[in-house]
Amino acid sequence: MTTPLRYGFVGAGFVAKFHLLALTQVRGIEVTGVTAAAGAPELASLARDWMVGDAVVYNSVAEMAKHVDVIAVFAPNFARVSIVEAIVEAVKAGADLKGVICEKPLGRTVAEARRLVDLAASVNLRTAYFENQIFMKPIAVQLAQLEPVQRRMGPLSLSRSSEEHGGPHEAWFWDPVRQGGGVLNDMGCHSIAVGRHVLTPIGKPVTFLEPVEVNAEVALLKWGRKEWREKLLRDRNVDYAKAPAEDFATGIVTYRNPETGQKVKAQFTNSWMFEKQGLRLFMDGTGPGYAFEVNTLVSPLSIFIGDTAAEAIKDAELALEKSTASRGLLAVQVNEADLYGYTDENAEARDAFRAGRDGFLNWGDGLEVTRLVMAAYLSAERKRVIDLTDSATQKELETYVPLIAQGRGAEQLY
Ligand SMILES: NC(=O)c1ccc[n+]([C@@H]2O[C@H](COP(=O)([O-])OP(=O)(O)OC[C@H]3O[C@@H](n4cnc5c(N)ncnc54)[C@H](O)[C@@H]3O)[C@@H](O)[C@H]2O)c1
Repeated sequence: MTTPLRYGFVGAGFVAKFHLLALTQVRGIEVTGVTAAAGAPELASLARDWMVGDAVVYNSVAEMAKHVDVIAVFAPNFARVSIVEAIVEAVKAGADLKGVICEKPLGRTVAEARRLVDLAASVNLRTAYFENQIFMKPIAVQLAQLEPVQRRMGPLSLSRSSEEHGGPHEAWFWDPVRQGGGVLNDMGCHSIAVGRHVLTPIGKPVTFLEPVEVNAEVALLKWGRKEWREKLLRDRNVDYAKAPAEDFATGIVTYRNPETGQKVKAQFTNSWMFEKQGLRLFMDGTGPGYAFEVNTLVSPLSIFIGDTAAEAIKDAELALEKSTASRGLLAVQVNEADLYGYTDENAEARDAFRAGRDGFLNWGDGLEVTRLVMAAYLSAERKRVIDLTDSATQKELETYVPLIAQGRGAEQLY
């Protein structure tokens, strides 16, 4: 039997715990190291309890890099560049890494994402950019089921993808400067990535479809209102009167099939103002004569909790990520780590790094997702369609920092 791949986590918060849970369902990976600004001992102890690995807490990336095969960057967006610089220094000092993983978004700007790509390339590191939604089993299964239909009738022409919930769990996500924007940067990357993935004709590479245009809008529909702004200030110490971020974004990315010249469209919608049971991922797609639809709030399990029993509920978040209700008729997902794609993205990264190649999406692909997200901000800011084939626009995107990410969102959103 081959020896397991030793993972070292950078970051021990929400997403690190989700990956740990996913790894209880994936063979051939052990979490043997954790380093984080906070929470590393708790995560390491959880790794041992769940038998995912004898995780050791390290004080630095440099120390951990000597003892693991793969480093997974699960720290906040604002810490990306310094963490990857430390990884690269460790490799230069002799750490023998088989690969490095980065959670979405790869960067807060194109320049940051490009810096990550260049850093990894400078020491010839294999990379994986984690966009869990493209690994969701419902997405993979619809593609497999519809493959013969697609081969006969032609690929999808329209996809619609959305990810929505009531707002993030940590203060830094709400801060447009530290996070890199609002919901468009936080979750638009998912919807844009999965939208392109389902439109890509079966058997073609990830970069096959050429993005030609982006048209988008952003707005502050809930958290800019006085009572909600005050709540945000009270609960998170984030002041949306001064530096707001968008809580709603929608748009369309148009792609061109280079073989047929046909244009296809991917619509995305994301919000932090969604008033339902909790997180909802919704995707659908339409091709000539066929279609698919995914809705994660439709579960085979629902529970009912009446008012008198509501006091007794243990933990609403156990039912569903970003759960907003603890009574009434509630949807419950029994295996969210698998449903959202965390298990299969880790299994794929394992196979890729073992074989000495990049993950299904590498950091170059992550950079491209960041570029599309930035084009969407630019479109919303300028109130016009962004032509991605125009060389002046391409150049502008390289250094563009959205007004919202500069902390100047009030000029645009109010
Ligand atoms: N794929 C998804 O659906 C998904 C979901 C949530 C978060 N994420 C991404 O994962 C990343 C982490 O998000 P989270 O929700 O876990 O955040 P979090 O705030 O819950 O946890 C962040 C962790 O990183 C640590 N940390 C902070 N600064 C650090 C530094 N400089 N060096 C090392 N550790 C540091 C914190 O102490 C904490 O342990 C973000 O980039 C986010 O966009 C992805």
